[in-house]
Amino acid sequence: MTRPKIVLTDPVHPEVVRQVLGPRCEVVVATSRTRLMGELKTADALITLLSDSVDESLLRHAPRLRALGNFAVGVNNIDLNACRTRGIRVVNTPGVLTRATAELTIALLFAAARRIPEGDRMCRGGKWKGWAPDQLLGQDLRGRHALIVGRGRIGSEAGRLMQALGLKLEYITRKDTARQVLMKLARAQVLSLHLPLTAETHHWLNRTRISALPEDAIVINTTRGPVIDEKALIQALRSRKIFSAGLDVYEREPRIPLALRKLPQVVLLPHLGSATAETRAAMARLVTTGVLGILGGKRVPNEVEFGV
Ligand code: GLV
Repeated sequence: MTRPKIVLTDPVHPEVVRQVLGPRCEVVVATSRTRLMGELKTADALITLLSDSVDESLLRHAPRLRALGNFAVGVNNIDLNACRTRGIRVVNTPGVLTRATAELTIALLFAAARRIPEGDRMCRGGKWKGWAPDQLLGQDLRGRHALIVGRGRIGSEAGRLMQALGLKLEYITRKDTARQVLMKLARAQVLSLHLPLTAETHHWLNRTRISALPEDAIVINTTRGPVIDEKALIQALRSRKIFSAGLDVYEREPRIPLALRKLPQVVLLPHLGSATAETRAAMARLVTTGVLGILGGKRVPNEVEFGV
């Protein structure tokens, strides 16, 4: 019996890939677009990163494809309609990265509230002249009002962690009217975004909503960059309309606007939400076993629902 061919756009996690796929499949890593197009002609499955765009123009080169595994929980990089039309089943990595991403949310919150990168730069740059009562004053977190947007796995876990730190929690739900959203934003000293990126959530945090935030607000984003209107956020931070932001994601990754990079109070990370050794191994295991399950005609728990 011929072994199914699985193409990966990145080695992802060589040890897990070797263990799970090695004995059962032909595994090909195609890191360039040209090589990928060629290999896809005879591929049964494809494993992609969140930075790979999987659309009709790519799938046209993959006549045999039956399974697609995204090494991420977000699937905004995949044209799900095109997959459905072509009968391609899709898996992602829900659950295993919830805690790591929620913890990074809290790390960004601490870093922004206590101005940790500014202090670090002061020390490294030899600029620290000694202890001073008014040096780099930040914010206490206990008792502060936090608003979580998106009550899925990661939003709920980030909420639990914030509650444990003594923040007062509120969530935005689908039932909130536009006016209720603005009222909640006006109380949000911490605003943490956990919405998946879709056509509806694009620029969810827009100019109007940003201007509803209080002056001491800290905005945290560990979901997808385009959920925020980046230009409007930069303007609010520049004019000190809000206190700070902790960002792990950007509108056009890996591009981070210079105007954002110049703001000293902002904490910037290179999309590290799920970046722990344990989590990345678990993601690799989940995505590879999911793809194998599909190729074996099985039901798999991490299959993405196409909706109706
Ligand atoms: C990371 O951003 C993911 O969607 O897994």
